[in-house]
Amino acid sequence: MALKKEVEAILNEQIVKEFDAATVYNGMYIYFEMELFKGFAAWFKDHVGEEMSHAGRIIQYMLDRGVAPEIPATRKPKTSFPSVLDAMKAALAHERTNTAGIHECLKVAQKAGDPATVEMLQWLVKEQVEEEQWAEEYVQMVKKVEKSVGGMYAFDHAVSKRVKA
Ligand SMILES: [Fe+2]
Ligand SMILES: [Fe+2]
Repeated sequence: MALKKEVEAILNEQIVKEFDAATVYNGMYIYFEMELFKGFAAWFKDHVGEEMSHAGRIIQYMLDRGVAPEIPATRKPKTSFPSVLDAMKAALAHERTNTAGIHECLKVAQKAGDPATVEMLQWLVKEQVEEEQWAEEYVQMVKKVEKSVGGMYAFDHAVSKRVKA
């Protein structure tokens, strides 16, 4: 069964969102390195790859369905933020945008009667639960400790331990 046009279009839109998240996180990686929060920097550096792998899943799926996915042009990300809290809030907002995008893909695929695409999206739906969870946790933690330099570096260190080797 050929991929319906509306499904192809929404999947291409999600590829843009995943690339965009990778770009945003590259900017945050640079910001945190410059601020000497090496743990946060390592986390976001790792997540550049995660976001590219999300895009990669959709790209491979579209290829498997016989259509050429569109690769977006990259834009210049922010590499400075008013505060660590602002950066973490921006990360959370980005994850929420991507979750909404994936849910939209799912809606379109269901409406189009495309069970293979629905199935492919399940992994991303689950993944977004984890993605929003860490982003939410980081915002909450920074809110708790941001007034304390020691607290911030302790949290940064804790995050460094969570980065996959
Ligand atoms: Fe993603
Ligand atoms: Fe993500």
